[in-house]
Amino acid sequence: MTKAYPAPPASRWISRSVRFAAPGVVALLIFAAIGWIDFGAAAAASLVFALGVAVFVRGFDRDGAALKGHLRALADAGSNHAPPPPRPPLVTTHGEEALSLVRRLDQTWRGRAHGVARERDRFTAIVSELADPLIILDAARVVRIANPSAIRLLGERLIDRDLADSLRHPDVLEAVDDVLAGERSRKIEMTQPVPIERVFEVRVKEFHDESDTAAAAPRVRMALVTLHDITAMKRSENMRADFVANASHELRTPLSTLIGFLETLRGPARDDAEARDRFLTIMGEQAGRMARLVDDLLSLSRIELEEHTTPSGRVDVVGVLGAVIDMLTMRAKERGMAIDLVVRDSLPRVVGDDDQITQVFQNLIVNAIKYARAGTPITVTACLTDMTETGSRRAVAVSVADIGDGIPKSHIPRLTERFYRVDPGRSRAIGGTGLGLAIVKHILSRHSGRLAVDSVVGAGSTFTVLLPVPLDAEFDIDDETVEPAPEPMAT
Ligand SMILES: Nc1ncnc2c1ncn2[C@@H]1O[C@H](COP(=O)(O)OP(=O)(O)O)[C@@H](O)[C@H]1O
Ligand SMILES: [Mg+2]
Repeated sequence: MTKAYPAPPASRWISRSVRFAAPGVVALLIFAAIGWIDFGAAAAASLVFALGVAVFVRGFDRDGAALKGHLRALADAGSNHAPPPPRPPLVTTHGEEALSLVRRLDQTWRGRAHGVARERDRFTAIVSELADPLIILDAARVVRIANPSAIRLLGERLIDRDLADSLRHPDVLEAVDDVLAGERSRKIEMTQPVPIERVFEVRVKEFHDESDTAAAAPRVRMALVTLHDITAMKRSENMRADFVANASHELRTPLSTLIGFLETLRGPARDDAEARDRFLTIMGEQAGRMARLVDDLLSLSRIELEEHTTPSGRVDVVGVLGAVIDMLTMRAKERGMAIDLVVRDSLPRVVGDDDQITQVFQNLIVNAIKYARAGTPITVTACLTDMTETGSRRAVAVSVADIGDGIPKSHIPRLTERFYRVDPGRSRAIGGTGLGLAIVKHILSRHSGRLAVDSVVGAGSTFTVLLPVPLDAEFDIDDETVEPAPEPMAT
């Protein structure tokens, strides 16, 4: 064991020993002087006593010096985050006990310091991982802390500058000034027009930096600013409001017609058998329209609910097309139309839900029957193609082509919006709900598919659906027959 700490100098030891031994020696000499004990014996006892005291003092002195040195080393190690120094050799039991207590104290303190550091690291990590921008400003409105997300939003030059340099929004700056001046927390909505319009909910709260403040000093008021992107929420709020207004309007129209005819039947037309029959026919049509609308709304909401779960089945597209065409042939005949099916390649199965894919083809072919010119053929073509221009994935393309008035270009991007119709009066008159293509779009989105619309006014329209082929599908491809991917619809 090395002697880590120097023993105190001998002069101090001697002077201390003399001081501690003096009262005893003086008492012995006085006893000798008054004749209680023999002078020689008194001298011998004094010597022995003084030596004993010296040995005793030596031990305490050494331990004291060793303990002081050890405490200093512990303090240095603690402030440098170094491991504690080795235990010094001690000679007295008091010294040993004192050392054990000191080591225990040091261990407790180290444990706490370690915990605090870990907590701080965790907080720093949380703040930097936070998706929402977070900024801390000092009393002069200068940005002291900003997480990466805040820097991404407001720029690298955010730190150590006035917030007004990077965020020029008068309401937010006013709220920050108010909070720094001692007012209550504030919440503001802020719109950032560039690069794309985004809406943020900005919260400004007071904040105190405890680490910088000595216990007695007054606490420095700072401000904590967090921004939460509520663009999507705002948009869906607006969409929901629009949707409810549209759906109510669509339902109210046939309902008012029904109520109107009911009143007429109760009153003026009560005894008119011929009018009654006519009215009942119209009422039946209106009730049917309401029922169709409610059915479409329900299937739309069901599709939306599962839109984010990928279908697990495999669908034979040609089989489904055959069934849909069989079902609609009679309806097409009513308008003098025929539905032709052309299958170009031997097609693999696609990823999908049978019922939903059936609904996609049904909606497209029904539209062709409804909107194309009477007496013209509808051509349904199925072939193999690429999902994208880069050809990274194979797809089955199904197109429904009709001959008719076509759709003006300006309407095409909006066709899949709910209740959007090129000619609302005509669509309603032939029993359309305005939801068919919206349903198609949501089903395709669930299937990672695409819809492309190509239309020439006065000539006709072609609606093409692309459905991805599973990566594990085995089939032979004759490259000659692969069609190029059509232009996707810009929705
Ligand atoms: N094959 C088509 N030819 C011409 N216009 C079409 C065709 N398919 C759809 N459209 C137009 O797109 C609109 C939306 O279609 P859809 O969502 O199916 O609603 P609906 O058929 O109930 O009106 C229709 O109102 C119509 O104006
Ligand atoms: Mg339709």
